Amino acid sequence: MQNPKKGQLASLVKLIDAAKKVLNENSIDDLIIPARGLYPHRVLWDSCFAAIGVSNYDLGKARLQIDSYLEAQWSNGMIPHIIFNSRPEYWWDRHIWRSKISSLSKRSIATSGITQPPMFAEAVMQIGSRMQTDERDQWFNQILDKLVAYHQWLYRERNPKGTGLITLIHPWETGLDNTPPWLVSLKHHHAPWWINMLTWLQIDKLADHFRFDAKYVDPSERSTTYEALRLYDALRQIRRKKYALSKILNNSTFAIEDIAFNSIFIRANTLLKKIALSIHRNLPEDLLKNMSASEANFQQLWVKEDRTFYSRNQKYGHHLKEDSIGSLLPLYSGVISETQAKLLYQKIVSKKDFNTRFPLPSVPISSPWFKPRRYWQGPSWVNINWLIIDGLKRYGFTEKAIELTKKSILMVENKGFYEYFNPLDGTPAGVNDFSWTAALIVDLVNQLLPELNA
Ligand code: GLC
Repeated sequence: MQNPKKGQLASLVKLIDAAKKVLNENSIDDLIIPARGLYPHRVLWDSCFAAIGVSNYDLGKARLQIDSYLEAQWSNGMIPHIIFNSRPEYWWDRHIWRSKISSLSKRSIATSGITQPPMFAEAVMQIGSRMQTDERDQWFNQILDKLVAYHQWLYRERNPKGTGLITLIHPWETGLDNTPPWLVSLKHHHAPWWINMLTWLQIDKLADHFRFDAKYVDPSERSTTYEALRLYDALRQIRRKKYALSKILNNSTFAIEDIAFNSIFIRANTLLKKIALSIHRNLPEDLLKNMSASEANFQQLWVKEDRTFYSRNQKYGHHLKEDSIGSLLPLYSGVISETQAKLLYQKIVSKKDFNTRFPLPSVPISSPWFKPRRYWQGPSWVNINWLIIDGLKRYGFTEKAIELTKKSILMVENKGFYEYFNPLDGTPAGVNDFSWTAALIVDLVNQLLPELNA
């Protein structure tokens, strides 16, 4: 009889091979796009997650994702959330953003004008941990100033009150486009008359048939047309100011200290310090001061009576009390107390919150916002699982982390490398052959190997 562990190992090896194939097929000149068709451009945190996965088997290619992304960094330190595919047929996508209207953008690289969760330090650390020391030090030395410039930009431009909590100006910057706390703010967006008219006449439902993404995914699994039009309009407002933040923040619909972004940023700060230390370099004093402020003031996002963290409106100071997966990401930040970590853990194991058959739902199942197949309003995403697994391990919840690893792998093994999954039954949603799902599954399988070999 076959040893069951051997059988399991064999199927995991097959899964890794299939994941590598997806990542190869999604590469253009070795640079990985999120998915063919729907996402033909390179995207910030997608590129970092791809690099983390690829570093398990091809360090050169992993490094290339990072080095080449950083080439698009603006002269003020900003790293844009999209680098556009230069093929002629994508002229419209490039035109929507027109990054050249800002004198700070890279002349030769068409990009967006906003950023996304700062996953670079994590990706660099992960890749570095697999490199030979000499080579690693050389690379860290080359890259450190760019990462420092990025973190300095976030503090300079997105920290208007000096609290160290970073303010986002568009839902796309969160990476969790239609997450409920932001959807509430979106309702307050003053859209122009023609968008309101389309909504009023319910033409937005008709428009579903003409949407670009509807070519690839059922519109019921995406942002609604109502939301998409407002998001587009919010982008136009930012573009009109040529992406100059001093002119944007005062009149911006969105000025939110986002809990997911800030959790990832704080972790990135910790890792940046480690990168600098490993090559005996000092970080600038003002940066270190800001980093300490971020850690201390992160507690301002904790709401004691609800025993959880929320995003906060930067202008008016109120918390956005819609629960979502973002509220669990402080586990990844690594700077919350043991007691707070335990309270978040309890939400993960509670059946009315995040404990589904295929965790973790992006919105608690008892929330009125919960829709199991709609984008960031319910489905499980492998990148979020990866972040929370990492956080759980660092807070000592190892068993839960292993269980979540196994369930994430099972979900993908059953159905394929989809963008997201219905957390109730594991059925797939979004596009297939999605890069970060493939990449992070390679990484999660490798994390699980010691367990299987034991
Ligand atoms: C979607 C996701 C975003 C991701 C992008 C490309 O917009 O919400 O997080 O970066 O797709 O995969």
